[in-house]
Amino acid sequence: MPRVDIIAGARPNFMKIAPIIRAMDQAKEEGCRMEYRLVHTGQHYDALMSGDFFAQLGIPEPDVNLEVGSGTQAEQTATIMVRYEKLLLESRSDLCLVVGDVTSTMACAIAAQKLFVQVAHVEGGIRSGDWAMPEEINRMVTDSITNWFFTTSETANDNLRKIGVSEDRIFFVGNTMIDTLKLHFEQLCPPALWREESLQPQQYFVVTMHRPSNVDGIVQLQAMLSAIGEGCRGMPVVFPVHPRTAKNLRELPGLPDNLRLVEPQPYLEFNFLVKHAKAVITDSGGISEETTVMGVPCLTLRDTTERPETVTIGSNELIGTDPAKLRPALGKLFAGEWKEGSIPEKWDGKTSKRIVAVLERLLSGRRHPVGGGH
Ligand code: UD1
Repeated sequence: MPRVDIIAGARPNFMKIAPIIRAMDQAKEEGCRMEYRLVHTGQHYDALMSGDFFAQLGIPEPDVNLEVGSGTQAEQTATIMVRYEKLLLESRSDLCLVVGDVTSTMACAIAAQKLFVQVAHVEGGIRSGDWAMPEEINRMVTDSITNWFFTTSETANDNLRKIGVSEDRIFFVGNTMIDTLKLHFEQLCPPALWREESLQPQQYFVVTMHRPSNVDGIVQLQAMLSAIGEGCRGMPVVFPVHPRTAKNLRELPGLPDNLRLVEPQPYLEFNFLVKHAKAVITDSGGISEETTVMGVPCLTLRDTTERPETVTIGSNELIGTDPAKLRPALGKLFAGEWKEGSIPEKWDGKTSKRIVAVLERLLSGRRHPVGGGH
């Protein structure tokens, strides 16, 4: 029976693979002849960044854990490649399915393709155009050696056409993160701090920041947090702190009084906070997709986005990395002038089923397009 390796490494991967695994299990029950092997690279390894997500999203124990752990990006890339190559040499799969744009995505795609194991990329084709983001390099490298692309938008399809990918390798299926959000929407639950802080719907903000451009420089981080504290006009600002950001926060001389620093939140609690927030202020890309579907205003602290539909269709706006831009944007929000937004095409909760149907077809044909035309 053909076998697919499903690769997951870092937090944003887990909500993307969960519904694909669910759809594969369901297809198998209905007679589909396709197996999977779940490979966790170990890029994120602790409960807060990994274990909690497996538990809440019903992801099975990984079949293999490559245990890469922390390191520079080159160290992580190299170690994942060596260990995944060894795994494939010992026990080869027919296809390597990678999701998103983290280091694990790129590393496994390279190792697989060099052993002539075909690669499918979920969320292929998106581009920010900003090479200062490690994720952009990961996207470009991964897509240059991907056989089959599962895309979230027409913009992604166009980006792939521009690099010479033929139509028969592009499958516009929608967004697997939204499958997860829709499946768990009724189970979203408040974290302890909801009661501890007496939070009220639409009377607080949620902030997340972890991009090097915002958090690696102490001066920038301090200026941004001051602008957030002031711009939110005394309302509580809940800030689940990513480990990367935590290190630098400790160096800051003082923080705004309304900032509530908390540990990274599990999926159900985090999205409960987002759903009821007045707005989300973030430098994440994935969160702007979730706010788009929930219709929550999102202020993105970046100059570019690889997810333009969250701005053109959804409730997201690019504010940039200059803290001075935040106050007018928040002014617009408080004046009740934020746009409504709507939901992009095929972000309907059925994406993973589409992906599994395509994979079944591809693997029964066992066609491996060599070269790829770019
Ligand atoms: C990675 C992804 C990024 C994603 C982010 C979400 C890349 C290039 N970047 O960045 O796209 O948005 O994850 O979280 O892949 N650490 C822990 N516990 C863990 C894992 C990491 O404390 O379980 C610490 C590490 O020691 C390191 C820091 O977090 O100091 C950064 O982790 P790393 O995986 O290198 O990259 P992220 O910044 O998390």
